[in-house]
Amino acid sequence: MKPFCTSEIKQFWDDFSDKYQQNIESHTIPINFELYSLTQAHRAESIIETGVGAGAAAHMFSTGLMSPSSSFVSTDISEAMIDKFLHKFKTTGYNGDDISIEKFDNKSSEKLTVDFLRGVGNKGKRCIRVGTSDSEALPFEDHQFDVYIANFSLNIVDDYMKMLSEARRVSIEINQ
Ligand SMILES: C[S@@+](CC[C@H](N)C(=O)[O-])C[C@H]1O[C@@H](n2cnc3c(N)ncnc32)[C@H](O)[C@@H]1O
Repeated sequence: MKPFCTSEIKQFWDDFSDKYQQNIESHTIPINFELYSLTQAHRAESIIETGVGAGAAAHMFSTGLMSPSSSFVSTDISEAMIDKFLHKFKTTGYNGDDISIEKFDNKSSEKLTVDFLRGVGNKGKRCIRVGTSDSEALPFEDHQFDVYIANFSLNIVDDYMKMLSEARRVSIEINQ
């Protein structure tokens, strides 16, 4: 029997999001940047970060280091965390000529591609797309992302093997 169902996990993180942002998030930023560095995310064309939380590190990375013309898709199971992520962009401001940021909807059963999320008319821009998704069942087509990031997340999902299998599925295949 599962200890928690998805709606309970969602509820927990929604309720905890304020405290998380106030007391914990700033401590996770250095590790997040270690991951961007280890994966050479600044050189990638398409990045996914799952369990992104309120997105302090993602905000700094995407507005500062991320390569122009690249896409950064950020997901979290908690709507409250995603709202906080978007709020950061609204309150800090950004150059709309350089950055396109939008919330994506994954209600349809069709899996999404990075090209679809980027849309037309965003040529040359850093493209940030944010939405709710369970890391154990991502709503993306196979092999969409050059870089997959998850910080302080694998340890808290219900089934980490499912999360790893999804990470592999949505990542590009490297021929060795
Ligand atoms: C410990 S926080 C880490 C947040 C962020 N990565 C950071 O380093 O500050 C874990 C995050 O994972 C999210 N989360 C928990 N279970 C999840 C799941 N199954 N799928 C996606 N996100 C999940 C939570 O809502 C929370 O934002």
